[in-house]
Amino acid sequence: MSRLQDKVAIITGAANGIGLEAARTFGREGAKVVLADFDEEAGKQRASELKEEGFEVTFIQVNVADRESVDQMVKQTADQYGKIDILVNNAGITRDAMLAKMSPEDFQLVIDVNLTGVFHCTQAVLPYLIEQGKGKIIITSSVSGTYGNVGQTNYAAAKAGLIGMTKTWAKELGRKGINVNAVAPGFTETAMVEKVPEKVIDQLKQQIPMQRLGKPSDIANAYLFLASDESDYVNGHVLHVDGGIMM
Ligand code: CAA
Ligand code: NAI
Repeated sequence: MSRLQDKVAIITGAANGIGLEAARTFGREGAKVVLADFDEEAGKQRASELKEEGFEVTFIQVNVADRESVDQMVKQTADQYGKIDILVNNAGITRDAMLAKMSPEDFQLVIDVNLTGVFHCTQAVLPYLIEQGKGKIIITSSVSGTYGNVGQTNYAAAKAGLIGMTKTWAKELGRKGINVNAVAPGFTETAMVEKVPEKVIDQLKQQIPMQRLGKPSDIANAYLFLASDESDYVNGHVLHVDGGIMM
């Protein structure tokens, strides 16, 4: 029996990186997956590739920072599939700079996408999850949110804020049969990490007990566990998937 058979899952930021790998992983387990992403070109392309691999997927363009756009994406999902079971709040951006050089615009943009975007998406899907009396909300935090990281004032603030939201929603929604959990990945091999100077990556690897960066599949497998019935009694948890940086 597949672990997500006939579940309807929205994965934000699924046109690339970790979200894309999660879409493939969920598809393999029988889910119907909406790739909800800002990047229309990559999203359409990836969705057609996943369809060719035999998965039930749809691309819907969304800007998670824009409430109207999120509401439209959620409505389109519900109209198409008749229900929503799982939301993976995976979309995220970086605008790294040392505190002294970070512009107020870049501070705000990262908060709008990485923190407020999760508020919009979760609030928009909530009525559908409540209607079913069951649902899974997964929130992508980061080692930067729990540990801090040089050059990431905006990003660390958003990712730490997500942990507060996760625990609050776990308390509010547990009684409605909805599990809310966070995954806090360590440095993972995607376009996001390609921007980090090589010198910094070398330093980082030395701090990781596993001595390697994460792979998108390492994170996708954690999403899968938290999306499946196997985690029905896990609520308000922050699952660190970082090779042992945080312990
Ligand atoms: N950890 C430790 N030291 C770091 C560091 C980090 N993450 N980032 C930078 N430094 C150090 C540099 O090695 C440098 O040290 P020295 O002065 O000894 O040479 C010092 O900080 C200043 O760095 P720069 O000379 O590069 O300064 P800059 O102003 O040109 O650039 C920066 C600053 C934009 C922050 C750049 O250093 C940078 O991009 N750093 C990486 C930031 C980072 O780790 N981002 C994570 C992106 S991946 C992600 O976000 C996913 C996730 O959730 C973890
Ligand atoms: P990525 O850059 O490969 O993919 C992010 C996706 O989000 C892209 O497809 C992008 O188009 C989409 N996106 C960006 N802004 C959006 C918006 N406003 N609305 C909708 N979609 C938007 O990044 P990656 O690495 O796959 O990151 C996925 C998540 O994992 C992010 O939340 C990131 O912060 C988090 N993370 C990543 C780590 C890493 O080392 N790669 C480590 C810890 C957390």
